[in-house]
Amino acid sequence: MTILETREVSVRFGGHMAVNQVSLSVEEGQITGLIGPNGAGKTTTFNVITGLQPPSRGRVQLAGKDITAMSAHRRARAGIARTFQRLELFGSLSVRDNVITAAELNRVDGQDPKAAADALLDRVGLSDDAGKRADSLPTGGARLVELARALACRPRVLLLDEPASGLDDAETDRFAELLTDLARDGLGILLVEHDVPLVMRLCSEITVLNFGEVLATGSPTQIQKDQTVIDAYLGQGTDVGEDL
Ligand SMILES: Nc1ncnc2c1ncn2[C@@H]1O[C@H](COP(=O)(O)OP(=O)(O)OP(=O)(O)O)[C@@H](O)[C@H]1O
Ligand SMILES: [Mg+2]
Repeated sequence: MTILETREVSVRFGGHMAVNQVSLSVEEGQITGLIGPNGAGKTTTFNVITGLQPPSRGRVQLAGKDITAMSAHRRARAGIARTFQRLELFGSLSVRDNVITAAELNRVDGQDPKAAADALLDRVGLSDDAGKRADSLPTGGARLVELARALACRPRVLLLDEPASGLDDAETDRFAELLTDLARDGLGILLVEHDVPLVMRLCSEITVLNFGEVLATGSPTQIQKDQTVIDAYLGQGTDVGEDL
């Protein structure tokens, strides 16, 4: 089932169309990629979906319901969670308190937010770091705290903005496994990432943006063969992996 859809979304900043008639969809239980060169409009599209940026035109739908006019806060409660390209954690709080804060905001009757946070920290592999200050963690750990915090919102769809940036190869592999598990549990994931081999490995469908417009949508195989995508993005020194 389609959990999230944008329909011909446009964002104009002054005379500049940062996003131009972008339609994309995210299925439950699948990882969808959103890729493209720097400045293509990926983060702006995320901001429209999460309600931080009103679109100049177009609509956003969650589970078939039009949410274009809904506040960011209500969208979060309705099941849209995200992580940020530039990490946004409470640095002076402990890792555990960062996740508890999110769990408290999305409290379920009969569920202890502390227990929920601990279960999530265990799931992302951060139990041993729970008591540390969030700003003492290296990038890889901090990205996992952000993920645990997003999951504490009990999302139906999760938007990840360059989650593998700053991770080493082993951390990236573990992260990929975690995303695969989350999708298997039914979560819809929209993944913005410049690590092209990772995107090709994880995603069932990919939308490519260039200058704010959708250049192509298709399977990893289709996208890698698409000459317009190669010319605009994949051919720019991007390593698409030897097995692809
Ligand atoms: N608040 C803003 N005001 C004016 N222009 C903006 C604003 N936010 C983004 N832009 C412009 O909109 C375009 C799209 O930016 P966006 O951040 O969405 O790109 P991106 O695809 O996420 O790029 P990157 O891969 O570098 O993160 C860029 O030209 C950017 O300079
Ligand atoms: Mg961006």
